[in-house]
Amino acid sequence: RIAYVNGRYVPHSQAMVHVEDRGYQFSDGIYEVTGVYKGRPIDAEGHWERLERSLRELSIAMPMSRRALDFVASQVVRRNRVVTGIVYIQVTRGVWPRNHPFPPKVTPPALVMTARNGLGPGQAVAERGVSVYSQPDIRWGRRDIKTVSLLPNVLAKEKAHHEGGFEALLVASDGTVTECASSNAWIITRDGVLVTRALSNDILPGITRARLRELALGMGMQIEERSFTLDEAKAAREVFISSTGSFALPVVRIDETVIGNGVPGTLTLGLRARYLEFLE
Ligand code: PDD
Repeated sequence: RIAYVNGRYVPHSQAMVHVEDRGYQFSDGIYEVTGVYKGRPIDAEGHWERLERSLRELSIAMPMSRRALDFVASQVVRRNRVVTGIVYIQVTRGVWPRNHPFPPKVTPPALVMTARNGLGPGQAVAERGVSVYSQPDIRWGRRDIKTVSLLPNVLAKEKAHHEGGFEALLVASDGTVTECASSNAWIITRDGVLVTRALSNDILPGITRARLRELALGMGMQIEERSFTLDEAKAAREVFISSTGSFALPVVRIDETVIGNGVPGTLTLGLRARYLEFLE
């Protein structure tokens, strides 16, 4: 395997960053995970746009133009023979002796890209559905920025996995669901209305979320972008999560509560099928 590290393509086993990289010391950096399907990137424009926005919000310089990022991404895909998998992109504020304030403006941001085959849980899992476990959302106030500061997400996901679940469903102190540790959360009401939280500083603006929203509208489905509580989710007709790897993935259990009759809902599976069609 080959990785791109600050201007060089190097063997994955030798892909290293400096001990004084600010990403390593302060989580002072951002990332993207872009899906690759049959050799082509999924929604690349959306991912580059979000990457630029994350950097802008943190006053980190773009490491190179969008076109150059595109080129490096295509190189890591090709050099790793990725057919259906992911590209991981990380940009940090660069290397400088440890000190909280930003380093001098001339310090170049550090850029790393890796790619590998394997994209999400697959169709068999989707047809069974997954379980999720609710947990308090203990993250910071700028969850709209895709920072590498993922410790609360890691702890939540670990706990969910330990319980035998696929994801952690994160609940704010007011009882509303924000999103999951690494996906957005959706419910479908008794009336067949898709509900997902409105974009704000509380959640990551998922690229899959945006794409599913557009496809659902195209299918004539009704969508409400609003908050919903954990109780509302448990009583919903259908529940699903979305992310780069999981597309639209049916949830059949939240904690000890079975959703609907415990099998993936028809509306969710229909939307997932539409997404798979879009990927072709
Ligand atoms: N996670 N919410 C959070 C907190 C996420 O980390 C992610 C993505 C999403 C879904 O966004 P998208 O549809 O753009 O993948 C929502 C990536 C896949 C990860 O951390 O691996």
